[in-house]
Amino acid sequence: FYASYGAFYVLIFVLNKKKLGFSVVPNDEGKEKFKKSENVAFYRRQIQGPNLKYRLLLDSLVLTEKGARFELLEDGTKTRLLLSLTPCKNDTVRIVIDEIWPIKTRYRIPDVLTGEPPSEQLRVESKTKDSVTLSWSSGRYQVRVWHFPFRLEVLCDQEVIVTFNSKDKLWFESLQNKPRNLASSQRSKLEEDKNSLWRETFRNFEDIKANGPSSLGADFCLHGFQHVYGLPQHADRLRLRDTSDGEPYRLYNLDVFAADLYCRLGLYGSVPLIVAHKPDRTVGVFWLNASDTFINIQYSPSDPQGGETPPVKKRRLRPQTDVHWLSESGVIDCMILLGPAPRQLFKQYAQLTGYQAMPPLFSLGYHQCRWNYNDEADVKAVDAGFDRHKIPYDVIWLDIEHTDGKRYFTWDPALFPKPVALQQHLEKKKRKMVVISDPHIKVDPDWPLYREARDGGHFVKDREGQIFQGTCWPGESSYLDFSCPETRAWYSRCYSFDKYKGSTPSLFVWNDMNEPSVFNGPEQTMPKDAVHHGGWEHRELHNLYGFYQHMATADGLTSRSGGSERPFVLTRSFFAGSQRLGAIWTGDNVATWEYLKISLPMVLTLNLTGIAFCGADVGGFVKDPDPELLVRWYQAGALLPFFRGHSANDTKRREPWLFGEEVTAAIRTAIQQRYCFLPFWYTLFHFAHTSGMPPVRPLWVEFPEEESAFTEDNQYMIGGALLACPVTEQGAQTVKVLLPGSDEIWYDISSAKAYKGGKSLSLPVNLDTVPVFQRGGSVVCRSTGSGTCTADYQKLPLDVTVGLNSQASADGELYLDDGHSFEYRDKKAFSLRRFSMASGRLLCRSASEEGRFDCDNVVQSVSIMGVKSKPTTVNVHVPGAKSISASFEFLEACCKLRLNNLNVRATTDWDIQIN
Ligand code: NOJ
Repeated sequence: FYASYGAFYVLIFVLNKKKLGFSVVPNDEGKEKFKKSENVAFYRRQIQGPNLKYRLLLDSLVLTEKGARFELLEDGTKTRLLLSLTPCKNDTVRIVIDEIWPIKTRYRIPDVLTGEPPSEQLRVESKTKDSVTLSWSSGRYQVRVWHFPFRLEVLCDQEVIVTFNSKDKLWFESLQNKPRNLASSQRSKLEEDKNSLWRETFRNFEDIKANGPSSLGADFCLHGFQHVYGLPQHADRLRLRDTSDGEPYRLYNLDVFAADLYCRLGLYGSVPLIVAHKPDRTVGVFWLNASDTFINIQYSPSDPQGGETPPVKKRRLRPQTDVHWLSESGVIDCMILLGPAPRQLFKQYAQLTGYQAMPPLFSLGYHQCRWNYNDEADVKAVDAGFDRHKIPYDVIWLDIEHTDGKRYFTWDPALFPKPVALQQHLEKKKRKMVVISDPHIKVDPDWPLYREARDGGHFVKDREGQIFQGTCWPGESSYLDFSCPETRAWYSRCYSFDKYKGSTPSLFVWNDMNEPSVFNGPEQTMPKDAVHHGGWEHRELHNLYGFYQHMATADGLTSRSGGSERPFVLTRSFFAGSQRLGAIWTGDNVATWEYLKISLPMVLTLNLTGIAFCGADVGGFVKDPDPELLVRWYQAGALLPFFRGHSANDTKRREPWLFGEEVTAAIRTAIQQRYCFLPFWYTLFHFAHTSGMPPVRPLWVEFPEEESAFTEDNQYMIGGALLACPVTEQGAQTVKVLLPGSDEIWYDISSAKAYKGGKSLSLPVNLDTVPVFQRGGSVVCRSTGSGTCTADYQKLPLDVTVGLNSQASADGELYLDDGHSFEYRDKKAFSLRRFSMASGRLLCRSASEEGRFDCDNVVQSVSIMGVKSKPTTVNVHVPGAKSISASFEFLEACCKLRLNNLNVRATTDWDIQIN
């Protein structure tokens, strides 16, 4: 039954058929419905193709305001290309290659980059008969282009960091006019079949290529790098694998139910960004292309872990990684991000594709979802269950069954007759509701929304120019063309309160199935020859489809409040830049330990590639988790940015209180702990929003020189301060924790016990243990006390926990604003505070001149870990008032000092002197 999504749908369809009155049942087929690289003609053409050698015509150099232009020529095929090179102010280099005289314009991706990064003026540094070296004002970096064979090197202080075309993989199929005799002549038909230039078949599906072959590819050598990350989404480890002996990574957004683990086929979303790291540099390659894309990775010397035989002693070679990108269409548009440190790389990438949207505070709380909560009474009962069991939560979700026959923007009249009253019931407790809204629209001429979309020309067309139809949840459906700005505007208006009957300001949205999923389409998606706005084929922009729906939905939610309230939209499909629009989750996982384990590197990879607000279905979507797995999943999920429990319609109910008191208590603790850390999470999101730093980070981001941490998947940093190592092994009695940094001190947050860094620790665990360590040198703020949702926690007093480093100092920030509006942006209504401790003095100061936000939040207690001896006195000084002495406790066994009843405001300056 679980073997395939196809089978799964069959069952659901059969169950629903009577109710829905249609008879389309998707084929019962498994993962064979998805292509492997060998099934893809452009991939075959490039991999088998002739070895092309381009020459760069040095005399064609033109220096422009935006950099330089060159011509490239391939002698054999006579292909002529134009290469534009743009160095940007933020230490990125953009390379664009297009045909010199294309017979028609090739697709260039709009809307993903947030603007043209300011460019630098290039100057010729030196010239030989073989090469030209160009430099720009920053001075450190240079670009050298070689005449034959064509190479493009990026150098820093004379050392080559990245070479473009180092293996002569540059490939560019020029657009051609369709040969007249293509269909008629038998001979050319054979030709055509061999290379699938104009027509390609896969299983029963035929793809007619209106523009013929248009693929492109290029390779990069990353010198000195042996660790490469990125390219979500795959259910795989953090470090990308060498693909020499298997499938390439594919980026093609697909609805893959219960995806095979460690598999390189495409999943729901794509970010074509590779991040390479070595101890002294982090670089990135961003390949801006939204068509079907494959990536081959080759490590040299080859990866000893990959081989079966024990690694033999190799000649000391400078390691390198070769990355080969191949895409079906568009142009070559890539950006090399030069770092040099992870922090700078994240900023460079955010400057290109945008920063993480600042989430409304409620969305960082816990979300309770299920396919489906059956009716209004069910929703109220679940909501009450959280109160009864004293488990905080913020949002309850409604899946597709809440609608009237899978017509989004409607409500099932029998099950959800009073949606407004239901939302008000929740809102009284400051809780929210999220409903699903998919991109397919039921073909129903009696439904006004369908008619409006049809008559407004808002649907994608098929290759014959008719409105495209495919099957999805409602049966026969058409698909909105979100790539069209007018369609997006129309769709956004569908979310206005007057149009969306039954919606209130506390209703938020979930975009699912937006790869898009088409049950009877090739690879269960839209045919590549479907046609979008502007006449562009679907193949050009397939990976943008979900991104655009997300954009229109987020705009709709923002606009319904007149632009004052932050939206919250969760999407399944995504692309580079989706971080600007909201949250994503990793799709249909399974309730097994392996899927729990893989959720960590999946989320870390997303965070490395800009998508900070993400998580996996807690508990596993498919199948029933046993109580131990469920508890461990809650514990892990509480330590990831987006925290939502979700389960499929045929699973057993699994609200946290259904498994006995021990399990309820463990889940309660995990969720409460998440709520206590909300001030910390919210601050991390402020930094993701303003500096591009991901809230969750692979260890190497914080410990760039610690090579033993470069392949660590199971533990990671939350901000710079906390090291999380959730338990993901069944029946674990101990957990091995790598505490990086030989100069570091780490404090177990539950015991305050200090450990020296630079070694591994075997930590005994029971079902309640969630291994989290605070780094010496950091300050973390959290809420103390308890409440029912984020709105309660927002008002609770704060505890400031200081972990001293070996110099007895520490610092950290706290960000505060109203938690829901854009006033932080438009009126600078925010407060950023810095807590810093040195020489026995803890200062609370403003960390930003810009913001001003008055709130009543108080710091009630301060805990300082790593205090060597009991102080004699502790004095609190608030400017303009007399110093007062504070009561304190000293826990000698763990060297922890605790100051209670401080009652000092978080937004005013104060000092605490410890004598
Ligand atoms: C597929 C989604 O991945 C899942 O989360 C959802 O419950 C179902 N669609 C039904 O809408």
